[in-house]
Amino acid sequence: MIDLSKKVALVTGASRGIGRASALRLAAAGADVVVNYVTSQAAAMEVATEIERLGRRAYVVKADVGEQEDIESMVDWIGTTVGQLDIIVSNAATGGFRPLLAAKVQHFHTTINTNVLALVHLVRAGLPLLAREEGRAKVIAISSHGSHMALPMYGVIGGSKAALESIARHLTLEVGHRGVNVNVLKAGLVETDSTRNIPFADQMFAGRTEKAMMGNRVLTADDVADVVLFLASPLSDLIQGETVTVDGGAAIHV
Ligand SMILES: NC(=O)c1ccc[n+]([C@@H]2O[C@H](COP(=O)([O-])OP(=O)(O)OC[C@H]3O[C@@H](n4cnc5c(N)ncnc54)[C@H](OP(=O)(O)O)[C@@H]3O)[C@@H](O)[C@H]2O)c1
Repeated sequence: MIDLSKKVALVTGASRGIGRASALRLAAAGADVVVNYVTSQAAAMEVATEIERLGRRAYVVKADVGEQEDIESMVDWIGTTVGQLDIIVSNAATGGFRPLLAAKVQHFHTTINTNVLALVHLVRAGLPLLAREEGRAKVIAISSHGSHMALPMYGVIGGSKAALESIARHLTLEVGHRGVNVNVLKAGLVETDSTRNIPFADQMFAGRTEKAMMGNRVLTADDVADVVLFLASPLSDLIQGETVTVDGGAAIHV
């Protein structure tokens, strides 16, 4: 059994969806969790209540991870108040669904800041807490199939996810020898608040069982959280700078 007791995890965008499921999974394995959100305070508080029900400590921190200063303040706060940080799940993302040709420069900037640079700022700010001589700290970034496949209206986010995967590999070179693993979890389609807004969402949801090899089982946020847990645990100590795909096999064939 994976035991994360005495560990502290920060999950960005933990108020909803995959972030929420990951925060709860890490807490169920024994970790105390910093629940980050940007707008959904009530939802974040509910996640914290569930974590406390599991017998763990929860800390709720509002920060826009698209802003370097917010990230630095959040990590400073963790250092001062919690005094420890062992796991970061860089999950929060933004971008909107639009054609690349209709995207404004600001859309690209906001998306890159939130989906890519946040990982760099989190690791840079968190390194004094993450770095260690014994054991490993774990950083997990959440990506999607848009990093390597072309999906309608997904160019802005997809491009950011491709950058994210490369940045994660390069970060590994810089922090791997300091006791930190950086890996990417690439998830298939999960029904969440953001994917319900994708144009033709119903068609995409309906097509899921055809491509995956899981019978009628569809990928859920909890399935993704299981692999977050693995990547956060000592079982994955020798996985470094990798992108692990969790999609039931949907993307290995046409
Ligand atoms: N759902 C999928 O099919 C799928 C597939 C592959 C990868 N992913 C990736 O999985 C991650 C989570 O997606 P999801 O579908 O679970 O999303 P979601 O349900 O829409 O939740 C998004 C979360 O991110 C937070 N967030 C957004 N912008 C933020 C910011 N600037 N600063 C801090 N928090 C911010 C939101 O906080 P508030 O509630 O406070 O707004 C919310 O907690 C993303 O990286 C996404 O690209 C999703």
